[in-house]
Amino acid sequence: MDIFNARIGWTSFIIWFLHLLVCECVPLPDSGQCPQLHPVNLQKQWEISVPDGFQINLTFTHVDNKSSITVLYDEKVLGKFCGNENSADGHHPGHQPILSPGSRLTLIFQSDDYNPDRKQNVGFSAQYQAIDIDECSAPEPEDGSGPLCSQICLNTLGSYRCACHHGYKLRSDQRTCMLIDCGEPEPLLNGGVTLLSGFQNQYLSVVQYHCNEPFYSPYGGNNVSLTCEADGQWRTNHDVILRPACLPVCGRPTKQIENPFQRIIGGNEAAEHTIPWQALINVGDSRGGGMIIADRWILTAAHVVVTNGQVQTPEALSIYLGVTDVHQIIETPSLNATAVHVHPEYNNPDNLNFDHDIALIKIKDSVTFQAAIMPLCLPSQGDTYDTGMMGLVSGFGIAGKGYRQRFLPNKLKYVHIPVVEQERCSNSLKGIRNSRTPNLTDNMFCAGTPEGWKDSCQGDDGSGFTLQSENGRFWAAGIVSWGVKCGQKGTYGFYTKVANYVDWINKIMQEN
Ligand SMILES: *[C@@H]1O[C@H](CO)[C@@H](O)[C@H](O)[C@H]1NC(C)=O
Ligand SMILES: *[C@@H]1O[C@H](CO)[C@@H](O)[C@H](O)[C@H]1NC(C)=O
Ligand SMILES: *[C@@H]1O[C@H](CO)[C@@H](O)[C@H](O)[C@H]1NC(C)=O
Ligand SMILES: *[C@@H]1O[C@H](CO)[C@@H](O)[C@H](O)[C@H]1NC(C)=O
Ligand SMILES: *[C@@H]1O[C@H](CO)[C@@H](O)[C@H](O)[C@H]1NC(C)=O
Repeated sequence: MDIFNARIGWTSFIIWFLHLLVCECVPLPDSGQCPQLHPVNLQKQWEISVPDGFQINLTFTHVDNKSSITVLYDEKVLGKFCGNENSADGHHPGHQPILSPGSRLTLIFQSDDYNPDRKQNVGFSAQYQAIDIDECSAPEPEDGSGPLCSQICLNTLGSYRCACHHGYKLRSDQRTCMLIDCGEPEPLLNGGVTLLSGFQNQYLSVVQYHCNEPFYSPYGGNNVSLTCEADGQWRTNHDVILRPACLPVCGRPTKQIENPFQRIIGGNEAAEHTIPWQALINVGDSRGGGMIIADRWILTAAHVVVTNGQVQTPEALSIYLGVTDVHQIIETPSLNATAVHVHPEYNNPDNLNFDHDIALIKIKDSVTFQAAIMPLCLPSQGDTYDTGMMGLVSGFGIAGKGYRQRFLPNKLKYVHIPVVEQERCSNSLKGIRNSRTPNLTDNMFCAGTPEGWKDSCQGDDGSGFTLQSENGRFWAAGIVSWGVKCGQKGTYGFYTKVANYVDWINKIMQEN
């Protein structure tokens, strides 16, 4: 008797009239409410079931005289209906529906006078309906296991589910709720994170990222604050998951060179932290300079890393940063290079062509910037090489007038020398009647004082000639490249014009 069809919906009315043909005589539990039938002629039994999570609402509309219906649930009598209208049991057919505790019922029909021909005393009619059980309104079980749902119970057709208040999430038991916890915020390289408000990274906690200033500054300029949102994610107010990042601060040493225009022949010793981008590059027995421009990149002159037309292998280079005295390199481990990128157009077999005298060295491990090691900025728009602008040249090769090549000083030194207009640079070369004079190109500029008492070709080859932009930031204007007759009156030092190579530098750094 498959009378309930779940496909037609959650509720179904079925009315049926029975014409009983079979006698199945089974002793019934005695409710004692209907008059005894003598003799029991006919007995038939049905099971009614609806899907789990539903209960059965059963209503009898008619029971024939001399018949009785017993309704059982788990062998417990829920009710007994008699066809005798005079019966005193109060279960009058057509009234008082029976609601099953579960999803099934057993009906037992009995009659004592079976006469199908007279169509008398032959059955009953009833209807039933599947009703969704509202599990949520059930009383809390007495076994102390707590309510069905610890916070919110949602009744659904045939079932129920638990939900939680805002800021809580359902535990895996699908019953109890716990406060949302976003977990430890991700650590920030070269920065940190502090809990501004809230507790244990729980819902609505606020954390703020900061960068290790003054060496790093937050990408976008502002410290990023994140809130632990209801979905368990750290988010900014704008609902996006923004990964904060710390960018190195370039060209802003923590200590300024005092009295920058002091005129001391041969340069001044640089105090610690005043020229933090200076790199010392040892290639075999020779010493060169460079400047750090990014956490893994050193900018230098091509001729420092090219010997006899051969590019040095990275292994041949020893690089030191944060050093102001050469003796310090004994206790400072050298940074290891992984690649040397020389400008592809650099071609200087006879030391007469310094065009494109620029190279980049990639170092193996990225450098963490601090007061002694900070990068130099690359030229940006608005940075100009105006004649007369004072530049800062530094290096371990700066010596007194005429001392170049005779001895190498051990201290980092610097001089301030002005940018010279290109025509004057060009003219200074014309006066030299020497076929072995390199040519001046647009990729170079020269600097120095006409009097010549400030050496014009000072600094380690490859070291930086820096200029300061209006906001005080130092930028890599030149790379110490070549010179003629060092320190003599009317001669200048020649520098690779870095502004012409910004695209090449960025390309190499991006692609490697
Ligand atoms: C059971 O069915 C009867 C008759 O259809 C109806 O009057 C009654 O409201 C129903 N009971 C429930 C709990 O739905
Ligand atoms: C059933 O019994 C009632 C009262 O005892 C009587 O009025 C009625 O006619 C009977 N019905 C049938 C179909 O015999
Ligand atoms: C970022 O936070 C740090 C430390 O909390 C603070 O010193 C700095 O001023 C903040 N920077 C900005 C741009 O708000
Ligand atoms: C550089 O390489 C040398 C030899 O392979 C090694 O001993 C040294 O520790 C490395 N230095 C750094 C900073 O990794
Ligand atoms: C310099 O320029 C002159 C004239 O343009 C040229 O003849 C000479 O080869 C150049 N020298 C070098 C080293 O490129």
